[in-house]
Amino acid sequence: MSNRPSASANERTQVVSQMFSRLVPHYDRMNRLMTAGRDGRWRRLAVEAAQPGDARVLDLGAGTGDLSEEFRRAGARQVVSLDVSGPMLVRAREKYGAERIDWLQGDALHLPFADEAFDAVASAFVLRNLPDLAASLEEMARVLRPGGRLVGLDITHPPDTPWGRILRLGFEQGVTRIAGLVSGDRSAYRYLPNSLTGEPTADALSAMLEAAGLVEVSYRRLSMGAVALHTGLASSRSP
Ligand SMILES: C[S@@+](CC[C@H](N)C(=O)[O-])C[C@H]1O[C@@H](n2cnc3c(N)ncnc32)[C@H](O)[C@@H]1O
Repeated sequence: MSNRPSASANERTQVVSQMFSRLVPHYDRMNRLMTAGRDGRWRRLAVEAAQPGDARVLDLGAGTGDLSEEFRRAGARQVVSLDVSGPMLVRAREKYGAERIDWLQGDALHLPFADEAFDAVASAFVLRNLPDLAASLEEMARVLRPGGRLVGLDITHPPDTPWGRILRLGFEQGVTRIAGLVSGDRSAYRYLPNSLTGEPTADALSAMLEAAGLVEVSYRRLSMGAVALHTGLASSRSP
């Protein structure tokens, strides 16, 4: 199957990229507020799941670099931090410099790397932004060496419980308000709660990871179900 992005996928990626580029000055503060300060812990759990010691790691959709920095701290040999938004990467580099981190502009649908180039591929809060998630997952699997780990951390559909329904309401109602207050750009972050609509449930995302060729796929819910941390291993390729 071709991984060449379609015109409409390219257009949607550009819209998402421009939105995140506008949010750069406010992005970190909004993250802390919208997650009640939990996002740092979630990223550390994602890094632990990727087992990065001495590994070459791809941080896909690196944004302002917080996950990349966690990988560097955890001993990754090299972190390649890719994002479609140039301004996001400029900010990330200002925050963390470039020792053992390569900041690179590019698109998840069309990764500029050879097959099996990485020991681990991770993304935090990116998957639901991708216009063709199945094709992007195939790209992520392609650049993993056999046995390498894929880790995906993202907001997910909360479970269908009373608490889950409260979480969903909070996400749908609260996020836009907080983001609007902090950034003055309500329209941009109105996109966020909508970005969950139509996205796969945690179980469906597991099935998509398996369809992309990963094995031993599993996930755990964090923070009472609002966030899911998926992991899988790249299988050996047939000759
Ligand atoms: C919600 S931010 C997450 C940033 C960072 N991973 C974090 O943990 O804070 C989503 C990031 O994904 C990037 N992104 C969106 N679509 C992308 C694509 N198709 N390819 C690469 N990056 C993309 C955005 O530019 C943005 O920086």
